[in-house]
Amino acid sequence: MKTAIVTLFPELVDGFLTTGVLGRAVRDGRLECARFNPRNYAHDARKTVDDRPFGGGAGMVMMVEPLGEAVSAARSAVPEGAPVVFLSPQGERFDHRIAAELAALEGFVLVAARYEGVDERFVERHVDRELSIGDYVLSGGELAALVVLDSAVRLLPGVVGNPDSITRESHVDGLLDYPQYTRPETHTTGRTPEVLLSGNHGAVATWRKREALGRTWLRRPDLLLDRELGEDDRALLASYIRDTAGAS
Ligand code: ADE
Repeated sequence: MKTAIVTLFPELVDGFLTTGVLGRAVRDGRLECARFNPRNYAHDARKTVDDRPFGGGAGMVMMVEPLGEAVSAARSAVPEGAPVVFLSPQGERFDHRIAAELAALEGFVLVAARYEGVDERFVERHVDRELSIGDYVLSGGELAALVVLDSAVRLLPGVVGNPDSITRESHVDGLLDYPQYTRPETHTTGRTPEVLLSGNHGAVATWRKREALGRTWLRRPDLLLDRELGEDDRALLASYIRDTAGAS
């Protein structure tokens, strides 16, 4: 996959592109991520990239031209037709579904802005998709760009060593993850649930499904509204709810 990030602070993203899952994807040649700094496309000797907002108000606004020229350069580093994704709190809410959509592409450009915003004409002219990673404001789009890149790249074939860990993890099937345990079996903090030590794969799978449904019901009921549960899942969830109500 060929990607590019437009940022005033390329050094902020460098660590993520040389470490961990993203670092390995780059070294294995599965991911390219070129960096483009709008400051290099500024038109004056002082390398200005922002100015005061028309109409007044606090803060500075990123100007159309340096940002637009950096995006045009970035487009040449990604496959023809790859979308330009702008990170901003005004965007569509990012989730696993969008990560999977991006992972299916040959590439994309991520645009991270700083300061209080960007000239709207930049968005109209250069941006194909605007994404927000949540209802809060970051000081810049770099963290959001890395969230989007990381969650998409780990879905690429071969990037995460064991493909099972991707198909099983939270949000992939619209549910939260079940609890995990490892050695020691017994500890001062508690005992591992017996079923996980039983060697009975069917019972383990049922227990995990019930925990995943139950946790989702407790912590993120909104996720259950979006999906139709089958009869077996409804029975598992009902038994979880009965036990939880009985325990409280
Ligand atoms: N830039 C600043 N805040 C952001 C957010 N919540 N999501 C995406 N980009 C951002």
